Formats: sequence, structure tokens, C-alpha cells
Amino acid sequence: MCAVLVKLGGSVITDKSSYRCFDQGSADRLAREIASSGERALLVHGAGSFGHVLAAEHRLQKGYLDQGQLAGLSKVQLDVRDLNLMVMRSLDRAGVHGVSLPPGAMGLMEGGELKDLDLGLFRRYLDLGLTPVTFGDVVLDSRRRFGICSGDQLMYLLAKEFRPERIVFCADVDGIFTSDPALEPGARLVEEVDRRTLEDLPRTSRVADVTGSIYAKVEFMLRLAELGQETMVINGRAPGRLEAALKGEKVKGSVVLGGSR
Ligand code: IPE
Repeated sequence: MCAVLVKLGGSVITDKSSYRCFDQGSADRLAREIASSGERALLVHGAGSFGHVLAAEHRLQKGYLDQGQLAGLSKVQLDVRDLNLMVMRSLDRAGVHGVSLPPGAMGLMEGGELKDLDLGLFRRYLDLGLTPVTFGDVVLDSRRRFGICSGDQLMYLLAKEFRPERIVFCADVDGIFTSDPALEPGARLVEEVDRRTLEDLPRTSRVADVTGSIYAKVEFMLRLAELGQETMVINGRAPGRLEAALKGEKVKGSVVLGGSR
């Protein structure tokens, strides 16, 4: 069906500290690496500064609070679609035949958790030999009326359905660290991540991040790894690393272990 499931983190394809700042060089290179790996892929990308900044300003992650949020909701949807289009163009230039599947148009959350996604569509496009691409978005929520669906939530649902051989998260650092490596020079790369790793991780993040800290992200990855697939976090800013990881070569990074399998 699909051999690899990849998330291009918002920190790799955008400058997360500056509103709507796309990193085209990085996106183009990652697209080329996906193309030259030769693997059949299913892709997810984060929102980075096209999502988090305004979503935080309008408190969209809390769900419906007042009518004033609706302008923000609409703008965030617009911005993440802009970003998606830029990513789709990078893929197109690299020769990857992608199709864009926005969760806001075919997903439903319940109390902040993604419950429903039209997975049949992903399957049909995959069957055709195309590369489905989805992304962090504002999605309707049956309890809160709307919410923020992260790329990590999408990764979980897609992994559960399609059981790819390999799951790769591209971050802007070498993997999961014991603390934020940008702030603490003593931060250590955790080569094998398990539930115990969570105990040391910070629960807050440096930049506006409406989908949670590294703690929340690692929690998701552990749930994913528990499904049984090889799950890893690598540095998407290091040239060649994604391609090597997709081919199954050993690369620097963190492997997430599904301990309670
Ligand atoms: C965030 O998605 C979605 C929105 C803010 C609309 P992610 O949480 O997956 O994005 P990154 O990878 O952290 O930027």
C-alpha cells in the first residue's frame, strides 16, 4: 500500500518564529529526497508559522469561545492552505505526483481529538499511484465546534490505517533531546525514546505552539510506535538524512520504541 509515512515538521519548512515565513530551500530539498528515495509515501506537514501564530492569538485550540474567533479561524485555514500549496509546488518540481487532502474539509474532531478522517480518499489516491499530502489544520469538533488538528494526530490515524513500514518525523534538530538544545548546551540526544524519556521532557515550548510542547509530541510518537511500526525522528535540515532514512539506512536520530506492544 504505502511504504513510508513522513511528517515534515513546521519547524523545517517554515521559520516558526516569523509569521508566514516559508523555507523554500528546505522544502525543495526534502521533496527531492522523497523523490529520489523511490519509496511510496504518504505525507503530512505541519503548519509552522502559517498556523501557530494566529491560532494562538485567536485561541483556536480552545474551541469556540466567541464570534470574534471566526475571522481568525478563516485566516488560519487560508494560511495553512497557502503553505500547503507551496509544499505541493516543491513536490511537483521534484517530480512527486502529490494530491492535497485538507483535513478541514473531511475530518471531525471530538473534544480536541481527531476522530474521523475520510481515509477511503487517501486509499483511492494511493491505489492510483499518487502521493496524498495532508497537513495540520482547523477542523470541526463535535463538542467544541472547532479545534486545531495537528500533523501528529494525522500521523496517528494514517499509521493505524495504512501500517507503513516506516514512520519518519522531520524536525529541525537531530531528534528528541533531554531538554531544548537551543537553550541548553548540555541537552543530550536520546537515541532510543520510550515512556521513561517523557519524565525529563519540558511541558512548555519556546515559540507559540498551539498543539503542545515536545512532551505532547513525544506522547503521540509513543502511541504511534506502539502500533508496531518503526518510528523515528530525524533532522530534516541535515541534507540527505531523510532520503537515507526512507531507504532504511541507519541515520543519526531518535528511534521511538513501542514498549507496551
Ligand atoms: C498545527 O499543526 C496546525 C495549526 C496550527 C493550524 P502541527 O502542530 O503539526 O504543526 P507543526 O509541525 O508543529 O508546525
